[in-house]
Amino acid sequence: MNLWNGRDFMKSVIALIFGGKSAEHEVSLRSAKNIADALDKDQYTPILVGISKEGSWYSFPNESVFTQHSKITDANLPADAEPVAIVSLNGKPVIYSLKKQTSTPIDCAFPILHGPLGEDGTVQGLLKMAQVPFVGCGVWSSAAGMDKEVMKRLLAHASIPSAKYILLTPFNNVSYRELTEALGSPFFIKPANAGSSVGVHKIKNETDYQVKLKDAFLFDRKVLAEEFIEGREIECSVMGHNHDPRASLPAEIIPQHEFYSYEAKYVDDNGARLQIPAELPSEIVQKIQDLAKKTYHTMGCDGLTRVDFFLKKNNELFINEINTIPGFTKISMYPKMWEATGIPYRNLISQLITFAFEKFESEQELKTSYLD
Ligand SMILES: Nc1ncnc2c1ncn2[C@@H]1O[C@H](COP(=O)(O)OP(=O)(O)O)[C@@H](O)[C@H]1O
Ligand SMILES: [Mg+2]
Repeated sequence: MNLWNGRDFMKSVIALIFGGKSAEHEVSLRSAKNIADALDKDQYTPILVGISKEGSWYSFPNESVFTQHSKITDANLPADAEPVAIVSLNGKPVIYSLKKQTSTPIDCAFPILHGPLGEDGTVQGLLKMAQVPFVGCGVWSSAAGMDKEVMKRLLAHASIPSAKYILLTPFNNVSYRELTEALGSPFFIKPANAGSSVGVHKIKNETDYQVKLKDAFLFDRKVLAEEFIEGREIECSVMGHNHDPRASLPAEIIPQHEFYSYEAKYVDDNGARLQIPAELPSEIVQKIQDLAKKTYHTMGCDGLTRVDFFLKKNNELFINEINTIPGFTKISMYPKMWEATGIPYRNLISQLITFAFEKFESEQELKTSYLD
């Protein structure tokens, strides 16, 4: 039995939010299906809320939404889709049906949206306004975690190493020569706010630079030129409250392409080998876990985050990026690393929901008036 907010009820209603206006819409649907399947139905009742590719919100009465189509589009909706909004009604969060004009109370939201307009603080802000406890990082930490340039500035402030970079915008003109002088050759370019390796390129000559920079700018107005770090790609799952996180055993991605590109991730079935857990000496595992937790703390994460590293031959560690809503598909690294650490998928989901309730409760303790 759950006791929350003075209410006593048998099961918590969890709004699973998936889809969204991002290149990772389809991955989100696969993650959400697995979470819906794994959710402990003795403790939780899921409500399925999908955001279409156009950005419209719907609720779906059953899991067939995950199997009928590979994506949700306004023009090709399942017949039982209902337009909805998540709002605060009489101080309590509800899912409001725009057609029936009825409201269904919810206890918690589990956003499983990847990339911009989902992982970047936007949905988190909406959920905060609707006064709904939600799984995962809050507004600023999601936004700063999404923007690789802001992340690097925060990491640098905490003396956490990440690749040297130069910021490129449509308003500054940095030549190839200037970049190779500062960063060496080859170097990487990547949009500051993107994911799934879209717009990420390894640059080896000036023509490459001119062509690939245009591509990177298609995804964001901010592009990073970054020194090439030659090393192993290691990831580590972290969960818990910001002051008290726990890190999983790390795992290794071994790309079979020149780097872990979009093709290696999603197009080529043999694009990468996953080593879970990674084969590493115990003192390096410890160093990775410590740095993952320090990064989590520095970035204000609360709930969950996947921290991605480069490990050089001399054992030097660099943070590559963080993912505040990592994939949750059956083969995704985040839940797999927890499984390898002894936490099964179902328990992981329950644990993440518990963190959401705890965080919300502690936020409720803060005063909202000066004189009362
Ligand atoms: N500075 C770098 N040095 C070496 N490889 C890099 C560098 N930056 C990116 N990569 C390669 O590109 C991949 C995708 O880049 P990443 O920054 O993780 O973007 P995304 O958020 O799209 O996953 C990485 O997994 C790695 O293989
Ligand atoms: Mg990455």
